[in-house]
Amino acid sequence: MSNGSKKFRVEPGGSLSGSFVLPGDKSISHRSIMLGSLAKGTTEVTGFLQGADSLATLEAFRAMGVKISDPAEGALTITGVGLHGLKPAGKALDVGNSGTSMRLLAGILSGQSFDSELIGDDSLSRRPMSRVAAPLSLMGARVDTGAGGTPPLHIQGGKNLVGIEYPMPMASAQVKSCLLLAGLYAQGETAVIEPAATRDHTERMLRAFGVEVVTQDSRASLLGGQELQATSIQVPADISSATFFIVASAISKNSEVRLLKVGVNPTRDGIIHILRLMGADIEMENQRLLGDEPVADILVRSSPLQAIDIPEHLVPLAIDEFPAVFVAAACASGTTRLTGAAELRVKETDRIQVMADGLKILGIKCKVLDDGIEITGGLIKGGKVDSCGDHRTAMSFAIAALRSQKPIEILDCDNVATSFPNFVELASSAGLGIQEL
Ligand code: S3P
Repeated sequence: MSNGSKKFRVEPGGSLSGSFVLPGDKSISHRSIMLGSLAKGTTEVTGFLQGADSLATLEAFRAMGVKISDPAEGALTITGVGLHGLKPAGKALDVGNSGTSMRLLAGILSGQSFDSELIGDDSLSRRPMSRVAAPLSLMGARVDTGAGGTPPLHIQGGKNLVGIEYPMPMASAQVKSCLLLAGLYAQGETAVIEPAATRDHTERMLRAFGVEVVTQDSRASLLGGQELQATSIQVPADISSATFFIVASAISKNSEVRLLKVGVNPTRDGIIHILRLMGADIEMENQRLLGDEPVADILVRSSPLQAIDIPEHLVPLAIDEFPAVFVAAACASGTTRLTGAAELRVKETDRIQVMADGLKILGIKCKVLDDGIEITGGLIKGGKVDSCGDHRTAMSFAIAALRSQKPIEILDCDNVATSFPNFVELASSAGLGIQEL
């Protein structure tokens, strides 16, 4: 475990109010840098997430010779180099904690004329990369992983890629995106078939850059050799970050919060469906398109929650939101049951185990399943829990304090900066009694 030095201490109780613009969507921010770099011409981005993960992607492309202006309040300019204009970095590309950077870059780097190495932090160095290395090698790429299929990745350049049709063994937008990006460099058609729908930001943004991507049912495909033309990208607020405020408002007394310009792409809005099934009072206002992505202002008020069996088809549509859903379940009446979510075990931490360990310390009954968890709502006592270096477990334990009897102290919170650098500031201005120690 990473054992960072930052801790959170959160006072018990309180309520939330106000209107907030939360940081930009992490997935879309990564893709804006990647596609803007590979395009011809100048791409303007607004709403970019200045978090450690998306900045790691930005630095990786700078290291490969792309001019990218310093982001200022989320605005930046990318001087694209075209599909074949990247230069060798001359050093390993360190993407820190970011799985999205590593897996999507693996696809892009497989199509280059030069060799590359991708490395990451302790957490990323334990995560599975064979899920991209194996299909990339079917395309003719050479991607060597460390022992056990984990980073570092050594990617040989100068390979002639050929398109494949790949039925994905797991529902993963990162694998899908990796292969579609490698497909830009491949001869013929590259197609991926998903076992369940996952976020489609890559497909939408490729189209915005002028690439023809065909999607039919669960199959997405493109033809290699298509050049990207620069465009402008407006990044919506991240629904995954909004989730902490949505759950916080739902579980605390007398709360009412409005979250502005949140991305509500139907491949990302599983959290809204899950919480509504639990009885949450959520209104979607002002629904509109921001570029190619649907957004809305989300109004959430306190409401009593009931336990549910979470429908499995919603799992990939809310994959990053489960740590917060588990806190909602701890505050609901009855036993909530999640199955079909084994992917949670290979995120920044094993999110099933880490949340179960923490919730048990806080006094909540949990039963860990191979592919999910059962959580029985009850009294949250408070206490000291370990986020194990995972941004989303840290923020989830923080909002649990709204319903606890005593303070909650959370260890190892440095990585909150990967996705939500101003969490403490915004959450405390909304009414959470949070302090960083
Ligand atoms: C992401 C896809 C998801 C998600 C991750 C970001 C992306 O991972 O958990 O935080 O930007 O494509 P998987 O596709 O591996 O499920």
